[in-house]
This record gives sequence, C-alpha cells and structure tokens, in this order.
Amino acid sequence: MLLSQHIIFIASIVLIGAVGRSAAGQNWAVLVAGSNGWYNYRHQSDVCHAYQILHKNGIPDSNIIVMMYDDLAKDKQNPTKGVIINHPDGQDVYKGVPHDYTGKTVTPKNFINVLLGKKDLMKGVGSGKVLESGPDDNVFIYFTDHGATGLVAFPTGVLYAKDLNKTIAEMHTEKKYKEMVIYIEACESGSMLEGLLPDNINIYATTASNAEESSYACYYDAKRETYLGDLYSVNWMEDSDAEDITKETLFKQFQVTQQTTNLSHVMQYGDLTLGASHNVIEFQGANKTNKQQSAGRMNTLLKGDAVATVDVRQSILSHRLAKFAVNSIERMQLERELAQTTEQREIISKTIDSIAQIAFQVNRANAYETVTSKRMKLTQHDCYKAATQHIHEKCFDIQNEYALNKLWIVANLCEIGLQSFTINHAIDNVCDALGRQNFQY
Ligand SMILES: *[C@@H]1O[C@H](CO)[C@@H](O)[C@H](O)[C@H]1NC(C)=O
Ligand SMILES: *[C@@H]1O[C@H](CO)[C@@H](O)[C@H](O)[C@H]1NC(C)=O
Ligand SMILES: *[C@@H]1O[C@H](CO)[C@@H](O)[C@H](O)[C@H]1NC(C)=O
Repeated sequence: MLLSQHIIFIASIVLIGAVGRSAAGQNWAVLVAGSNGWYNYRHQSDVCHAYQILHKNGIPDSNIIVMMYDDLAKDKQNPTKGVIINHPDGQDVYKGVPHDYTGKTVTPKNFINVLLGKKDLMKGVGSGKVLESGPDDNVFIYFTDHGATGLVAFPTGVLYAKDLNKTIAEMHTEKKYKEMVIYIEACESGSMLEGLLPDNINIYATTASNAEESSYACYYDAKRETYLGDLYSVNWMEDSDAEDITKETLFKQFQVTQQTTNLSHVMQYGDLTLGASHNVIEFQGANKTNKQQSAGRMNTLLKGDAVATVDVRQSILSHRLAKFAVNSIERMQLERELAQTTEQREIISKTIDSIAQIAFQVNRANAYETVTSKRMKLTQHDCYKAATQHIHEKCFDIQNEYALNKLWIVANLCEIGLQSFTINHAIDNVCDALGRQNFQY
C-alpha cells in the first residue's frame, strides 16, 4: 500500500468511529418529585406522567432514574389503590415507573450524586442507578415540588440554587452530556437558574414561574380530595402527549406551555439557540424518527380550578368540609384542621417578620420596611444558605410551604448587607424563646 492509501484507510476508520459514536449517542433522564403526603399528590403524579412520556418515546428504563417518595399508591386515602392519575379523565400513570430512589433516599445529596454519576457513593442506596452519560449523550432533567427563593424542597432537606449550579458546571467539565434540558416546576423556580445558568454550556431550561412568583396546582379531584397536577407540568406534558414531538422544537413547547400556564410566567434560561434548534424528541425520547401515536389534546378547560401552591392545603380542606353538614362531627374536625393551618401560617409569618425586625434593631426602622416589602435578587447565596439552615434547625422545617413562601425576606436580609452572624443571632433570639415548632409539610 502506498502511504497515501494508508492515510485514506486510517482516515476512514476514524470517520466510521466518529459516526458510530454519534449514532450511539444515548438519551438519559432524571425525574424527581420533591414531596410526599397525600395533599402533595400532584408532584409524584407529575413525575409518573413524565416517565410514561419518556418510556413511550423509547428511552429504556436503564437510562431513566426516578426519585419519588412513593407513598401514594398504597396511601389509605387512595380510593384506587395502586393507581395514580395526572388528569381527571386520565389513565394510570404509576404502572411501570422504576423505583430507583424512594422514601428517605430522595435527598438533595443523592440527587447530586446521581447527576454526577457517582456510582460508588450510591452503592447500596436505592437501585444505585446513576447517570452514566458521556459526551455524546443527551440528558433530560425534570424536577417538581415546592420551592422558594434560591432553593427547591425535597422530602428530606432542600437543594440550593448555588449547589445545583455547581453540579451542572461539574457535569459540563466532566463531559457528562452533549446537550441537556432542564424543566423545573416549583414556586419561584426562576430563582434556581436566573443569573446562574450560563448560555454557553449546551443547556436549555424552562421553569414554571419567574424568580418571584408562585407556581400553581390544578385539577382538583373530588373523589381523591387532592390536586392531580401542577399547571406548568401538565401543560408541557399534555403538549408532549398531543404533539408530534419529532417535529416540535423545545422553544415551541416553551411557547405552548407559556401560553397555557396563564397564572405564572413560564421562563426560559441558558442556551436559547439550543431550544430553538432542537426537537423535543431529542430529550424526551430515544431520538428515533418514528412518530408516536399522539394522544390528542386533553380537555384544557378543566384547569380553570388552578390554585397557588401556598393555598393548596387550605383549598383542599375547604373542598372537603363543604361536603359535610354544618355541625357534623366530620365538618367540625375539618374546621379545626383548617384553623390549625391558618394558625401555623400566622406563626411562621410572624416568626420571619420578628427575625427581620430584630436583625435591624439598631436604629434602621425603614430598612425593616424595605426587606419585608420588596423582593431583591439573590446574590448572597452563602449567607442565605446559612440563615435558612439556621431557621430549619432552630424554628421549623423550611420545607413547609408557608415557610418557603416567606424565605425571600431572609434572602433580603443577606442582600441588604447583614452578616450571617447578625441574622443567626436574630434567629436564636426569636426561636429559642418559641422553641422549635413541629409543622407538617
Ligand atoms: C439526535 O438526532 C439528531 C438528528 O439526527 C442528531 O443531530 C443528534 O446528534 C442526535 N442526538 C443524540 C443524543 O444522539
Ligand atoms: C454558576 O456556574 C457557572 C459555570 O457553569 C459559573 O461560571 C458561575 O460562577 C456559577 N455561579 C455561582 C454563583 O456560583
Ligand atoms: C386560564 O386558563 C383557564 C383555561 O385553561 C381559564 O379557565 C382561566 O380563566 C384562565 N385564567 C386567567 C387568569 O386568564
């Protein structure tokens, strides 16, 4: 063989190798529901529905990692044991869902280890499944639960925006993906990415709301006495069910979701050109071109009952008590529960306000006014983490939605320049006197 023939021969092997790798690019997904309990039904049912979409579109279970508490199927309040639905007329979405991480293993730490592919650290924990994706693979991450300024809640613990940002940066450096799409449903979910996610690391993301507002529950089900879905989540998923996602771009899905999620601002972050140039199937499917049977649009009018996350607990109780006669034992019991919930909400609100007031004791009365009336953008991530963790330790579980709803005031304390020391001192002052409260969440 002539030298030039050798070169052509070698070059063609390299080429074939390259084509092979690209064709072998796989799809991976991580789905997380960050809550438990019957009244939070909707988060786990969202995740189950998301799994059905990825499964139907050809992603094998070996590449889908599901983190959910998994207390609903058997819950004593479940009138259809073993069945979970995500739409009033919907079919079971629970069947076949992998049980990778359930119960106490649904934690921010395990989520981070899963994303970083730390197989060793996950040995013996749940299924031990982690992202084993590489530079040719696409990754889809979907998270749904309660959130607050710069954090999202898990059944155990919370995940801070800065820690998620760090994890994502590490995934990029370690070439854990070719392209990645992240969808987040939570109150103030924009604050998980705003000012953090860069536009040059091949990640496109959308969130249920901007950094300052609530996200919304929808589909109250009278038989199950809980909300079946979250507005942003069911909107993107029903779009994936109804559209030909081999032709629909991520940006188009964002637009549809934005339009149908009419109570909060659905946002997009990161590499927007990725969103405009890639089809949904490249992340929510096995990237095959065969079109899946479309499910048709569900009845969207049923979403007229959407309610802000912070009001869900009270809304469910109000629905339930309306079923019973005045003065019936059931009704009186539910009225007591409703009153307790209102009281809880007030205690939490007063506690956070007192912390702000005491933190400003030294003659800065109008500073108190400022931090309790207007939201500032979170930049002091470390101070915020320290202060909220201190509240968690000394006052109450911050995963409680009334607590989450007030954490922006704590973020403001950091933003206005108070030191962690001063804020922690105020927290001790208020909560040592009250004692740590045991509120459900
Ligand atoms: C999916 O298919 C498109 C078009 O064929 C291709 O450009 C892209 O690299 C594929 N993605 C993966 C993860 O294989
Ligand atoms: C977020 O991550 C990016 C890298 O992806 C980094 O440049 C940026 O400094 C990080 N932001 C914070 C607040 O850690
Ligand atoms: C939002 O859309 C639903 C239908 O999906 C409708 O019932 C409701 O009135 C709309 N709300 C607002 C504030 O436009």
